[in-house]
Amino acid sequence: MRFDCHPESGASQLNCIQRRCCWHPLHQFDYKKQVHLNVPYCYYPKNWSLYEYENFTKHGNDFSAFLHLKQNSFYKEDLLFIKYESIRVDNTILRMKIFNPSEKRYEPPLPIRINSEANLKKTVYAQYELKTDEYIPGFQVIRASDKQVLFNSIGIGGFIFANQFLQISSTLPSHNLYGLGEHRSNLRLNTNWQKFTLFNADQPPTENANLYGSHPFYMILEQTGKAHGVLFLNSNAMDIILQPAPAITFKSIGGIFDIYFFIGPTPADVLKQYSKIIGKPFLPPYWSLGFHLCRFGYGSLNNTKAVLKRTRDALIPFDTQWNDLDYMDKRNDFTYDKTKFKGLPNFIKEIHIAGMHYIPLIDAGISASEKKGTYIPYDEGVRRGIFIYNANDTLPFKGKVWNFGSTTWPDFTNPESKLYYTEMMNDLHKSFEYDGAWIDMNEPSNFYNGYINGCIPNSLDNPPYLPGIVGNLLSRKTICMNAKQYLGFHYNLHNIYGTSQAMVVNYALKKIRNKRPFIISRSTWIGHGSYAGHWTGDVYSSWHDLRMSIPQILVFNLFQIPMVGADICGFDGNTTMALCNRWMQLGAFYPFSRNHNSDDTIEQDPVAMGKIVIMSSKKALRMRYYLLPYLYSLFYRAHLYAETVARPLFVEFYDDPNTFNIDTQFLWGSCLLIAPVLSEGKTEVYAYIPKGIWYNIYTIEILSSNGQNYTLDAPIDTIPVLIYGGCILPVQEPSISTTLSRQKPYGLLVALNEKESAKGELYWDDGDSLDSIEKKQYILFKFEVINNELKSTIIEGSYNKYMKLGKIIIMGVSKVVKQVFFNKKEIVFRYDKEKFNLEINNLLVDFKKNFILNWTNE
Ligand code: GLC
Repeated sequence: MRFDCHPESGASQLNCIQRRCCWHPLHQFDYKKQVHLNVPYCYYPKNWSLYEYENFTKHGNDFSAFLHLKQNSFYKEDLLFIKYESIRVDNTILRMKIFNPSEKRYEPPLPIRINSEANLKKTVYAQYELKTDEYIPGFQVIRASDKQVLFNSIGIGGFIFANQFLQISSTLPSHNLYGLGEHRSNLRLNTNWQKFTLFNADQPPTENANLYGSHPFYMILEQTGKAHGVLFLNSNAMDIILQPAPAITFKSIGGIFDIYFFIGPTPADVLKQYSKIIGKPFLPPYWSLGFHLCRFGYGSLNNTKAVLKRTRDALIPFDTQWNDLDYMDKRNDFTYDKTKFKGLPNFIKEIHIAGMHYIPLIDAGISASEKKGTYIPYDEGVRRGIFIYNANDTLPFKGKVWNFGSTTWPDFTNPESKLYYTEMMNDLHKSFEYDGAWIDMNEPSNFYNGYINGCIPNSLDNPPYLPGIVGNLLSRKTICMNAKQYLGFHYNLHNIYGTSQAMVVNYALKKIRNKRPFIISRSTWIGHGSYAGHWTGDVYSSWHDLRMSIPQILVFNLFQIPMVGADICGFDGNTTMALCNRWMQLGAFYPFSRNHNSDDTIEQDPVAMGKIVIMSSKKALRMRYYLLPYLYSLFYRAHLYAETVARPLFVEFYDDPNTFNIDTQFLWGSCLLIAPVLSEGKTEVYAYIPKGIWYNIYTIEILSSNGQNYTLDAPIDTIPVLIYGGCILPVQEPSISTTLSRQKPYGLLVALNEKESAKGELYWDDGDSLDSIEKKQYILFKFEVINNELKSTIIEGSYNKYMKLGKIIIMGVSKVVKQVFFNKKEIVFRYDKEKFNLEINNLLVDFKKNFILNWTNE
């Protein structure tokens, strides 16, 4: 219960006591080397408080109070008056705002919030209780059904509300805490004195570092298996401290306290509730679920072509070719190199004829060093006044990124930037017809720390408290905090830059292509998933990075950004055949599956890596393409219901504590368990298999688990994948692209549970139109097996293309099958007594008609 009262260096008994805190040195031995912070010597006594209630009203869950400052903190400019106000968003979401009642302070413009007033009526039966104390400031949030205290700040830690330092602490009901990104860490966060700094930075993923995105949201799984979530909606740079009490402290350097509590009680409920505030993920185009290939440094169109050709010649499923900045002229956005990439427009036409797609890189920064009249993107940006400005004049802020001279940054909070960017992207689209956008360096990244000589000293770049940012400098590799944006200082808006760009790019792509936008962004902020996906940046080609990609992908699914993947085979450093082999297999199960690497590394497209990698990639990607109808249906559920696509085991098996700490395996939805090989030389995986019946997807062998670890075979060309009994997966024969696989017959893969029943669904549409769901241009199937009968029912359907059903596999049919009927007509089948497997091949019927398939036993 020691809440750090002197996080800055130089704590002493004297200055600790000046802060009215307790001083008690303690030397703790660091056995595990995991301790990141030291246990504080100087800590807040219980009920330490700078504020006192001036008035106080509380009726049930409605709480409002004014407080005045009794004593100053050590962070300058404490607010003299503050106000607490609870808002019942609905019966599962409670919001607590603590703000300055006399002067509006900065609040994040994103995500665009729902109008909570409109929902007030629904809150009669609130599933939470709010508790306060008349004397000691703070509050408790309690789940009504089980009286579990979820958050408690009454008399805990040191509540501070200064102009540039906001701090609030709470005890926590359990150590099972997930979220607080973007970081590299295990999925379940370590609560043993850990600091998580949130400040978007161009920082290759390493432990204990603030990375590209900020997500001040966590979910806790309580000991009972119930879950709740908390969003600290604040976009300023912050530290979040976890300590073993267990307890949490948020320390932000701006804004207000705006905290949302999501009552659960299941993990899926929490995420759905969270999505009501931040928005749900976009529905991706179908082709984006295919395999993507990229690299920095193809260097020419010829080389790009050669890689594309050899990948296709090897018959590796492959949908989208990418180009990094080498396609650009002088590394300038919205241009292309007419020498080395001569013929790019035609190449893209050919790609389209082959049923494939093309994505180019767009960097956030715009070159500021071209001669007037020679580079429209800069001239137009200046004319329209949409760049980020210097603090003291009206000139664009200049730093430098990839451009040869200098760089300036569009301010995407300026409404005019939408039109500007749409025009720039449209001009580019007129010169070559790209299909999506890869937006990079949008933390925003800068090769200087501010200006070429740094930032002119100011209170925003030098706040009284500096969060634990890599490099100990807010402007490190970004722009100065006092730079001016349309909605205020960069200091406040920094963490939303990437998402503000993604929103504008999403808008532009819709306008230009009139099809579903597909955007992959490096920087993210809460709510980003409604507009774009994310890749995990510049990972290293190492086994450790391979392993750590799993918690990263899973946590982004919790953040409602399910379209996420890591650079397959690693970005920096040379990959190896063995590593790339296993990475291609795991990457085939990333929701966003792209192989990409840096310009100073060896070629690592599957064909360049040789026979074994080709074989593995084909096998794993063919399995991915086979499962795409299922994956697409998961994205549909993410889009409508905020369900995760790549799913941590605990989200599904929250009543099994063995799953709480698993992040070397994951699920696709609730039906597939993926257990990759993560270390060199292994051909087996020792994996935890939750209780139930599971089937090896390759051999159809049954594994009946009572909830323990099993050794799974993982020959060099195979990634273990199990199907959960009780599931019906829609599948489709794979092909070398989604355009072709979409023309193949569909199939059903039925995995029966102990009761020999199963359920599933398929969402299908043309895969690329805007608003297919809103316009009801889709078909939704429900499948169910009970009592020897498989029923397919169309719930909603106005998709007008023919769909042929080919093959049905039913696994786990325990009794020998005598006859099989399709709509009462007897049909041929195969039954395997050893494997309990019933197969109906070559059905070739109209999938869009309801049917019943039943069987009798001997
Ligand atoms: C950044 C990106 C990387 C890209 C490179 C060149 O490092 O993270 O993916 O290849 O820039 O554009």
